[in-house]
Amino acid sequence: MEKVFRNYEDTDVNAAVREHYRKMRKRQTYDYVQRMHGKYLKYDKPMHLWEAMTHLNDLIDVSDPDLDLPNVQHLIQSAEAIREDKRPDWMQLVGLIHDLGKVMFLWGSDEDGTSQDEQWGMVGDVFVVGCAIPDSCVYPEFNQLNPDMSDPRYNSELGIYEKHCGLDKLNLAWGHDEYLFQVLRNHKENQIPEQGMVMIRYHSFYPWHSGGSYAHFLCDKDKDYLEWIRDFNKYDLYTKCTKTYDLDEIKDYYLPIAEKYLGKGPIYW
Ligand SMILES: [Fe+2]
Ligand SMILES: [Fe+2]
Repeated sequence: MEKVFRNYEDTDVNAAVREHYRKMRKRQTYDYVQRMHGKYLKYDKPMHLWEAMTHLNDLIDVSDPDLDLPNVQHLIQSAEAIREDKRPDWMQLVGLIHDLGKVMFLWGSDEDGTSQDEQWGMVGDVFVVGCAIPDSCVYPEFNQLNPDMSDPRYNSELGIYEKHCGLDKLNLAWGHDEYLFQVLRNHKENQIPEQGMVMIRYHSFYPWHSGGSYAHFLCDKDKDYLEWIRDFNKYDLYTKCTKTYDLDEIKDYYLPIAEKYLGKGPIYW
């Protein structure tokens, strides 16, 4: 039988996933997101890329109903599938690092939802804060728990944004996508092409890239974004399997690619 991905129906595994989303929907407000930007986007913690990879050996993503392996295995599985399809080396690298923003848990906290135990500020499908939350989100029954949804500044379709302002102007729920994107944007030696940076930034934005919501915010270049994200999503989602790898064994192949696009020095997190 073919494997079904992103099945959120009631099962024991999904009780935890559901609880994760309840907290996430309730606590990811516009103010919370601004606070997290201030707190986590300081770029004052140097750490090499490969060391960050090893830390993801210790983290299992609680929002993922499809995989209960350490997150680094998902990263390698994605990268290897991209490599097998003979896609460009930068895209293989993006596959390998796209979830690396989850290293946030190393300096995160339960209160912020950025720890091993509380991951609602780190993982899961994201939505726009500062405007109405659409029903295309998983578990839309939790949308009304968000205090912003009873605040007239934030609960209309446009909220604080202008029509067709473009995706890059929106504030998304805080998590690993935005964190890694900002860390790499701040990294002077970063040579990852724009497509790759978009794949990193928006891969968890399911209500947009799969749910078809937020059409009123899109601008012309977001059509390209959607194409890139859908291309990448095949490798992010459908490569999840039980096959595991040893990080050391793939290092000889991937480290030179990482150094080509990100240099040899540390990245400032
Ligand atoms: Fe992710
Ligand atoms: Fe992923």
